Amino acid sequence: MLYANMFNLHKAGSMQKVIVLDFGAQYGQLIARRVRDLHVYSEIMPCDTPADEIMAAEPSAIILSGGPASVYADDAPTVDARIFELGLPVLGFCYGQQIMAVTLGGVVGHTEAGEYGPASIHRVASSRLLDATPDEQMVWMSHRDAVAKVPDGFVITSSTEICPVASMECAERNLYATQFHPEVRHTKYGTQMLSNFLFGVCGLEPSWSMDNLIDQLVDDVRDRVGGDRVILGLSGGVDSSVVGALCARAIGKQLTCVFVNHGLLRKDEPEEVEEVFTRQFDVDFVHVHAEERYARLLAGVSDPEQKRRIIGTQFWEEFFAVAQDLAQDGRPVKYLAQGTIYPDIIESGARKTGGKASTIKSHHNLIPFPDGVSFDLIEPLDHFFKDEVRALGTALGLPDHIVWRQPFPGPGLAIRIIGDVTPEKLEILKNADAIVRQELDAYNARLYEQTGERNSEHSCWQYFAVLPDIRSVGVMGDERTYQRPVIVRAVESTDAMTADWAKLPYEVLGKISSRIVAEVPGVNRVVYDCTPKPPGTVEWE
Ligand code: XMP
Repeated sequence: MLYANMFNLHKAGSMQKVIVLDFGAQYGQLIARRVRDLHVYSEIMPCDTPADEIMAAEPSAIILSGGPASVYADDAPTVDARIFELGLPVLGFCYGQQIMAVTLGGVVGHTEAGEYGPASIHRVASSRLLDATPDEQMVWMSHRDAVAKVPDGFVITSSTEICPVASMECAERNLYATQFHPEVRHTKYGTQMLSNFLFGVCGLEPSWSMDNLIDQLVDDVRDRVGGDRVILGLSGGVDSSVVGALCARAIGKQLTCVFVNHGLLRKDEPEEVEEVFTRQFDVDFVHVHAEERYARLLAGVSDPEQKRRIIGTQFWEEFFAVAQDLAQDGRPVKYLAQGTIYPDIIESGARKTGGKASTIKSHHNLIPFPDGVSFDLIEPLDHFFKDEVRALGTALGLPDHIVWRQPFPGPGLAIRIIGDVTPEKLEILKNADAIVRQELDAYNARLYEQTGERNSEHSCWQYFAVLPDIRSVGVMGDERTYQRPVIVRAVESTDAMTADWAKLPYEVLGKISSRIVAEVPGVNRVVYDCTPKPPGTVEWE
């Protein structure tokens, strides 16, 4: 069962915890993140989790998320009605308000027009949930159904012109609900409402932070591993690096980090990874020089999917070969550590969609082991969101260039070279890409200085060079050239699910272009990709 797969954070003694019951919300993860932003630990569980299972997790409060279904649909997600009898504070948003209403004897009906987007609520009764927020305020609505009659004992606390029950509560029983979404930024006082609930209604302490978690995570890894041996596939990306740093602190030499160098990494990257994990941490580090094997396997291959398959399969071949090698000394490797993070777990199917439980599929990090090879998995980050993983990395002493590394695809530069991969093309791409990164790192740093935010409105989220399989005519130093163009790709995004092309200042683009043409032999033209995702994708292959 997916949720039981998690590391043992819930055993954290007196740690206060809020359970978010997920009804298939677009914003389910966001609720848990907002709660954590307020320094209270929060976890997501499926909406139909039985009340005794919820109690076993020892929550201090429950939040019911929104969801796309209608409460009266045949397959509408339901909730165990006993959760309202546990004596715990409960807060419901949108579908969460409606399910609270119908479960406790109220009525939900269709509104004529529905309400989508900004809406103005006015307060009609005093409410702890709305404390320190204006009587009239803008909130974010997204609904067609709405509560038509509140359950006995409840009062309406705010309304909009269309929706009479914009929020309701039964303060004696600590039950609160809103039709709108306090968790989205467009609800201006949403954070205030959430803190009113957590600290005012529930009396929780804002004590969840990364710094005081590390000792506990280290203890968890030690307890779990005992005297056994652990292997970690280190890519140099944030997640696996943080697992490496954490395991290094917990179990030192019982950990072997395996870094498979396929020769498709960006300029200077292999050296940077090796430097950090050999100098800064006291672990065994194996640098597998697989560059030539990959070059042979990829020779003449131009189909993107075939490239991906070859690279992925060979990665595990290399990795398992090291694992088997290590076991030759009579101390077999019992555990495989992985950088699985919380969204991997949630997105792998734990959520409900359209009122139906979607099939749970194995998340992307799980791969079949070859015959004769088996490991138990250690996934110490499977409770954490990306920004929390970064904070952990910093607290564990990882350098900024690893902690703030932009996403990089496993198949590396091979999927940024259109057509077959050759040493000549790789050399051109590495050099051009290094220039794009230098210039846009500097551009992002300037924005960070101005705004204090790493991912501010105009900062680039991911940026790189792509080498297409064509040539064009140019003129350099009075001579005709017939050389390669380089494509610059830079996107703004928060999660890569959607992305927009970055509206870079012309002088930044100009500098990138002139530097690439001047400094990278074999390139005579630079073009900029101004395609959002969709319809494009971030990568070209
Ligand atoms: P696309 O191209 O699908 O990329 O818009 C979305 C995000 O995923 C990254 N990406 C990958 N990451 N293995 C990975 O670990 C892969 O095979 C892979 N392909 C794409 C991409 O860089 C972007 O951030």
